[in-house]
Amino acid sequence: MAKQLRPLAGKVVVVTGGGRGIGAATARALVARGARVAIGDVDLEAAERTAAELGAGAVARHLDVTDRPGFTAFLDEVEAELGPLDVLVNNAGIMPLSAVEDESDAVVVRQLELNLHAVIHGSKEAIRRMKPRGRGHIVNVASVAGKAGFPGGATYCAAKHGVVGFSEAIRLELRGTGIEVSCVMPSLVATELASGVGDSPWVRRARAEDVANAIVGALEVPRFDVFVPKVSGSIMRVLAPMPRRWREGMARALKADRLLLDAAGGHGRAAYEARAARSAPAADAPARAAA
Ligand SMILES: NC(=O)c1ccc[n+]([C@@H]2O[C@H](COP(=O)([O-])OP(=O)(O)OC[C@H]3O[C@@H](n4cnc5c(N)ncnc54)[C@H](O)[C@@H]3O)[C@@H](O)[C@H]2O)c1
Repeated sequence: MAKQLRPLAGKVVVVTGGGRGIGAATARALVARGARVAIGDVDLEAAERTAAELGAGAVARHLDVTDRPGFTAFLDEVEAELGPLDVLVNNAGIMPLSAVEDESDAVVVRQLELNLHAVIHGSKEAIRRMKPRGRGHIVNVASVAGKAGFPGGATYCAAKHGVVGFSEAIRLELRGTGIEVSCVMPSLVATELASGVGDSPWVRRARAEDVANAIVGALEVPRFDVFVPKVSGSIMRVLAPMPRRWREGMARALKADRLLLDAAGGHGRAAYEARAARSAPAADAPARAAA
């Protein structure tokens, strides 16, 4: 029997990092379903551009997810303006690439704060608000880099593995509370974050809209594991029981182990890496003060 769709019309949804890329596509897909979407982004101009394009269903606010009191205040403001939070999409993230020994402490801290700690903080804030109401949905955007290791993105992988583990734990912790949890694991997606990265011979590059549609699908019929494209989930399941040497040999044969490393430092990523380096003012403040 077909599962009944949960309607999204009128739901209050926050999308972090919704100014461009996957977040903007998700905001667009949600507004199309009648949701009221608050786009929070450290790049206010990008957030305002996207909200203006989406019309009355979307509002834009400045948000640096690494500024935890600021993130809390942003959620308070959204609830005061739009009503109780129904869905939080923890999407904001960055992917600076380099060999691990070349990565500065500041870049390690920025990634852990932005890609992991902010997801934990956002989820805690959402749970605090949703639990008394007995309903809500938290969507954490991780990556296939949360399920496997990719050279050139070791700290990114560490943070995304953290997001997957955290999401699995809160899913169990929240059983019976009415709060749903989804963990989104895209492979390569055609956004600025993946600029300069070559294509995987295994899986086609997805569009931001594919991820957005998968997120909408997981809200309408709640499910935890959301692989985009779906085939990457099947590949993970086939590879999982294989001996490590076989899995690694296959990745080497298909050059999937070189994708991020070969892109690191390349011209194709200069503009993105510069933007990622300005992406977390609150997380970077101690490093700037010490310099
Ligand atoms: N593009 C891919 O190939 C891919 C694959 C797997 C997972 N992901 C994940 O999807 C998410 C979105 O990535 P994307 O590809 O759309 O990237 P993107 O760079 O196109 O967009 C990310 C948005 O997040 C915003 N942002 C950055 N730092 C922020 C901060 N401190 N506070 C608030 N907003 C901030 C940026 O301004 C930008 O608008 C990330 O978590 C990323 O790790 C992306």
